[in-house]
Amino acid sequence: MTQKNSPITIAPSILSANFCRLEDEIKEVLDAGAHWIHIDVMDQHYVPNLTFGPLVCNAITSCGITAPMDVHLMVKPVDDLIHAFAKAGAHNITIHPDSTIHLDRSLNLIKSLGCKAGIAVNPTTPLESIKWCLEIVDLVLIMSVNPGFSNQSFVPYCLKKIKDAHEMIIESGRDIILQVDGGVNLKNFHDVIGAGASNIVMGSAIFNTASYEETLNDFNHIIQQCQVSH
Ligand code: DX5
Ligand code: ZN
Repeated sequence: MTQKNSPITIAPSILSANFCRLEDEIKEVLDAGAHWIHIDVMDQHYVPNLTFGPLVCNAITSCGITAPMDVHLMVKPVDDLIHAFAKAGAHNITIHPDSTIHLDRSLNLIKSLGCKAGIAVNPTTPLESIKWCLEIVDLVLIMSVNPGFSNQSFVPYCLKKIKDAHEMIIESGRDIILQVDGGVNLKNFHDVIGAGASNIVMGSAIFNTASYEETLNDFNHIIQQCQVSH
């Protein structure tokens, strides 16, 4: 049910990586078949956790990593960090609607700085609330956990929400990536893709495994099966 012919891609979340060897971790997952790097930015205000700032993006690019940096801002307010992460080389910048007073202005700020704009909706946030964002964004992120931590369980009702979001994107007629983030693993991966997701964020389901190569092979094998059957 994914959008016709849009390649399904995987974005490991470095929040679950071993930070003592971050460069190697990122290179290993990319070599193993991941496509983007998902960077979870948390400020201990919008979410009850504190992670990292733009310096991590600078560090990633300084070690010659060229994979798209998919920055997920779980911060409030958000506009200053949009500037900072765009300057630090972000490819996508995704924000939450309730993290800014003027959502249209913040989304257009991301695009004006040359980045792809994403809108993230928490599990119970109605899709209706982002309807007009579909005129602007390049990506919709369906949070399948409550934001703030990795290694949480997938919220079951989010599967239906992914399907609804997929329909909404098709109706918009715009080329928008449907991203799913949180609690995705080998057990639910097929269903998440079948619901229409075209980019999957995973932290613990990748970085908590012994062989990134085997893990990514497993996920990419499921992707191939799904793309063949559509
Ligand atoms: C949660 C983050 C997610 C999380 C994913 O607020 O946005 O990206 O790190 O980690 P897993 O895949 O372990 O749920
Ligand atoms: Zn995230």
